[in-house]
Amino acid sequence: MRTKWMILFLVIAVSACAHQRSLYDRIGGTPVLTAIVDSFIARFADDTRVAPTFAKSDIPKFRKLIIEQFCNITGGGCTYTGRDMKTTHQGLHLTETQFNALVEDLQDAMATQRIPIELQNELIAKLAPMRADIIHQ
Ligand code: HEM
Repeated sequence: MRTKWMILFLVIAVSACAHQRSLYDRIGGTPVLTAIVDSFIARFADDTRVAPTFAKSDIPKFRKLIIEQFCNITGGGCTYTGRDMKTTHQGLHLTETQFNALVEDLQDAMATQRIPIELQNELIAKLAPMRADIIHQ
């Protein structure tokens, strides 16, 4: 009887711990985030809905900042050193279609890196609230 309670306690403790792990850790940390960002950049470079907007951008700088940002918002403890989303996208006059296109490219990149759909959705859910600061600026 006592063993049964011990096992039950352990199962609850282990599942509670698993839940507390950050999205950053569950995704696989910086190596996996970096692979996602590299697939993502390769995808949007070929995406005519998005690519022209980046024509004059410093892509290596963007890559570094987006990795930092993803690490930061997933709980990896990185400091994001870029500009805020409103200032960054000011004057680009981005549309909802372009925003959705970029999200699609990111989803494709995560699927390529075999990120489970629940984790994909968790990352997208963290980006969704930024939409209002990014489009129609
Ligand atoms: C949730 C969606 C998005 C996130 C999280 C995001 C994030 C970022 C970050 C972190 C940077 C670098 C900031 C800096 O330069 O200081 C950046 C730059 C940029 N983003 Fe976004 N972005 C998003 C959506 C979009 C969309 C939809 C487009 C266009 C289709 C776009 C176009 C750009 C461009 C062109 C730059 C470079 C600006 C420059 O060169 O000065 N972004 N974005």
